[in-house]
Amino acid sequence: MSEPIPATQASPRPGRLRDGVGFFRTFLRSPTSVGAVLPSSRYLARALVGRLSMTPGEVLVEYGPGTGPVTAIIEQSLPPGVRYLGIELEPRFHEVLTHRYPQLDFHLGSAADVKAILAARGLSAPKRIVSGLPFASLPPAVQDAVITGIVDSVRESKGEFRTFQYVHAYGMKAARRFRARMSERFDGFERIGPVVRNVPPAFVLRYWGAK
Ligand SMILES: C[S@@+](CC[C@H](N)C(=O)[O-])C[C@H]1O[C@@H](n2cnc3c(N)ncnc32)[C@H](O)[C@@H]1O
Repeated sequence: MSEPIPATQASPRPGRLRDGVGFFRTFLRSPTSVGAVLPSSRYLARALVGRLSMTPGEVLVEYGPGTGPVTAIIEQSLPPGVRYLGIELEPRFHEVLTHRYPQLDFHLGSAADVKAILAARGLSAPKRIVSGLPFASLPPAVQDAVITGIVDSVRESKGEFRTFQYVHAYGMKAARRFRARMSERFDGFERIGPVVRNVPPAFVLRYWGAK
């Protein structure tokens, strides 16, 4: 079978339909870690990224950038001097990202290892973590390891974490488990949306005030 979205043929900018076939093939191979059948729309990406009121020297980390629809919005609004790091588990997506965004830094590996990944690059704790991880389909042990990394990072930076959950999966046990764990660890929570122009519609979740 041919490789999905080979980096040499990947378009310089993400197109949801263009990327959809390769994304779907990767989903079929790794359904629980990819966790979606289509890349996010620009509507969801904009709601997820929000306003980046960050200052030079601060660090923004994106978890699970996939084919890069959220990365595109971040790239457009990244304040000068702010360091970006994307952490992506899937080698095919990592290859596409490094081809599409040669000026940004991407690590091939798991968001659960964020502390070691940042330390290896000499980066400080991220002021903002933006996540596309499919928490509702991740095994509990992975979910917990990722949450620990998030809490430790944004507690140190007094920063903020943002993610999304699909409306149809919002009541699922694993999705509720994720929110319950997060609410134990954060003072601040806001639910934005749903973003109905995304297929499927999704809520954006914002957490701050890590304990
Ligand atoms: C639902 S897709 C979202 C992709 C993209 N952010 C978007 O919105 O279209 C989830 C992404 O998370 C990645 N992923 C899953 N588990 C991961 C982990 N532990 N660390 C880093 N990335 C992971 C998958 O490979 C996939 O790219």
